Order: sequence, then C-alpha cells, then structure tokens
Amino acid sequence: MQKTCKTTLLDKLWKRGQDLLGVQFPIMCGAMTWVSDPNLVSKVCNEGAFASLACGNMAGVELERQIQSTRNLTDKPFAVNLITVSPNYKAHLDVAVNANLRVIIFAGSLPKEQEIDKAKASGAKVLVFASTDALAKRMINHGVDGLILEGMEAGGHIGPVAGPILWQQILFEYSETIPIFIAGGIARGKMMAHLLLMGAAGIQIGTRFIMTSECVVHDAFKAAFQKAQARDAVATPQFDSRLPVIAVRALKNKGTIEFSKLQLEILSELDDGTIDRETAQRKVEEFWIGGLYRAAIQGNVESGSLMAGQAVGLADEIKTVKEVLDELVCDAEQELELTLKKL
Ligand SMILES: Cc1cc2nc3c(=O)[nH]c(=O)nc-3n(C[C@H](O)[C@H](O)[C@H](O)COP(=O)(O)O)c2cc1C
Repeated sequence: MQKTCKTTLLDKLWKRGQDLLGVQFPIMCGAMTWVSDPNLVSKVCNEGAFASLACGNMAGVELERQIQSTRNLTDKPFAVNLITVSPNYKAHLDVAVNANLRVIIFAGSLPKEQEIDKAKASGAKVLVFASTDALAKRMINHGVDGLILEGMEAGGHIGPVAGPILWQQILFEYSETIPIFIAGGIARGKMMAHLLLMGAAGIQIGTRFIMTSECVVHDAFKAAFQKAQARDAVATPQFDSRLPVIAVRALKNKGTIEFSKLQLEILSELDDGTIDRETAQRKVEEFWIGGLYRAAIQGNVESGSLMAGQAVGLADEIKTVKEVLDELVCDAEQELELTLKKL
C-alpha cells in the first residue's frame, strides 16, 4: 500500500502492535456483528490496518465460508472475533483454530484457560477484551498475547468502567508487560497519538468505521449516525437487580423507550406476583433479539438496535476506509511532531 504520509514517530511507538498483528498500521477495525463482513474486513486489511470478522450467532460452516471469502479478497492477516456467550461459540472456536489465523480474539465474557490454550496451540496470537481491571489482570495471568482494553463509551455490548479509568488502572501499569490495544471512543488521529504515548500498542475502532462507504450497513443507519450527537449513544438502563440487563450502548430511539417501559411493566408484575422471575427474564432477553439486524441491515432505525459508541459525535462524514485511515495516521504523526516540539 502506498503510504500517504510519513510514520517515523508512529513506527517508534506502535512497533509491538505492528509485530503482533503483522501489519503496517496497528489500527483494528473491531468486530461488529452483521457489519464486519469479508468486504469491510478485507478493505481495512488491504489498506495496511487490521480487522476482525464478527461471528455473531452464525453457524460454524458460515464462519468457514466467511473466512474463505475474506481470503479471496485479501492476502493480509485478519482475526476472527469469538463471542464466548454465543450459542455457536464452541463451533466458532473449532473453525478458528483450524483456519490458520494470525490472531484469534475472545470477547463476551472470560474464555476458559483451556480455550485460550487451544487457540494459542493453533499458532494464533490470542487477544482478549477486558472491560474491568480485574478481568484484565486475570487475562494477563492466563498468558494471553495482548489485551483489548475497552471503555464503556464504546458501541455495542459494554462493560461498567470508563476508558480513562482503565488506562490508569491497566495501561499505565501493564503496558510494558503486554501489548494493550485501546478501544472505545476513538475517532481522531490526535487521540490515537496520545494513547500511543501513554503506552498503547495500537487501537481498536468500531463506530467510526461504520461511517465508511465500504461498510454494508443500511443508509438509514448511517443517516442516524450522521444526525446523532455523542450524548445520544446511551447505555441500556437496568432498573432493578431482579431484572438484570446486559448493557449495550446504542442510539436512543423508539425501541430503547419501549424497552424501558417493558422493564417497568415487568417489575410491577413481579411486585404483584403475576409473573415469575424466569418468564420476566426471558421477556427482557427476547426484546432485542434480531434488533441489530433490523436496524443495521433492514434499515429499521425506529425499533431496531442502533448500536453506536459515543464517538458517533465525532463521525459525521461518510468517507472511504482509506480516507479514514489516512486521516488517523497523518493526524497522529503530525500530533507527535508537535508534541516533540513542545518538549
Ligand atoms: C454496531 C456494533 C456492533 C458490534 N458488535 C460487536 C461484536 O459482535 N463483537 C464484539 O466483540 N464487539 C462488537 N462491537 C464492539 C466493537 O468491536 C469495538 O470494540 C467498539 O465499537 C469500539 O468502540 P467505538 O465504537 O467507540 O469505536 C460492536 C460495536 C458496534 C458499534
């Protein structure tokens, strides 16, 4: 790939990320269910960065097909992102370890030690998402090759802690021990430069890559992103610990309002004893099934799930993947030069 600006200072800071991922730019396009398809993944990789295929709930054979389709479009390395809580997780893991991948990523919850070992034994480097300091420390002790440290400002399923807290707890303490990729809220090269100065080996972005012309999502989904402010990307509320809700950050819409109403109705039924806990929980879990597909692919932005990070407030323009990457890389290098001059 033709470099459009120099990366002399960046290359000093992100060497470990380059080596781990086997790429020129250790900027990862995070796996996004329905979004990170072979087309987007290969486009990002062909431009010198890195991307992960999202598995969602697809069948194992479909994942195999998607890996092959990606390989037909790029000879560059990419990852498969396994969600440990997916019903097809075991099949996904089997496909991933047999696919001779450079990187396997675990997301969702904590992978078991033997699953990490199985992934490593395939020859792949293993990265694991961490959204709290305790999870990050456990994963470091399990011998993973790198962490994706994700703050709650990110889009999709989120943890409970904001990025800057995790940077202080984990990035500052462990960046010499293990390569750490920072995710959540990143949309500018300047931000990337400062994260690298703080010790990051690279970064991961989701929301900004949705606003690319190569991204498959429905035009209505992109239009909603264009209109949205950072504050519109909110986490799903949980009103009562009797009704646990997995937090997802998404744009407010009719669906999010109805979901809140549903929870309040169910809680009052629980109080009255007209519903049992199991049925109550099932009703809550069923609400968003197929929600991301409805919004991202079918364009139903009223009642579907408009998963988005708060970086939506920094991602108004639709650009090509190459333009997004060029902007990130060139702005970051310039920021590093300016920072050097200040010292
Ligand atoms: C629409 C959408 C879908 C996502 N789906 C997944 C997923 O299937 N698996 C996963 O590990 N992360 C998923 N994520 C998280 C991204 O991989 C990435 O870590 C996150 O978007 C980074 O934060 P940012 O959105 O602030 O850039 C998703 C994010 C979005 C916005």
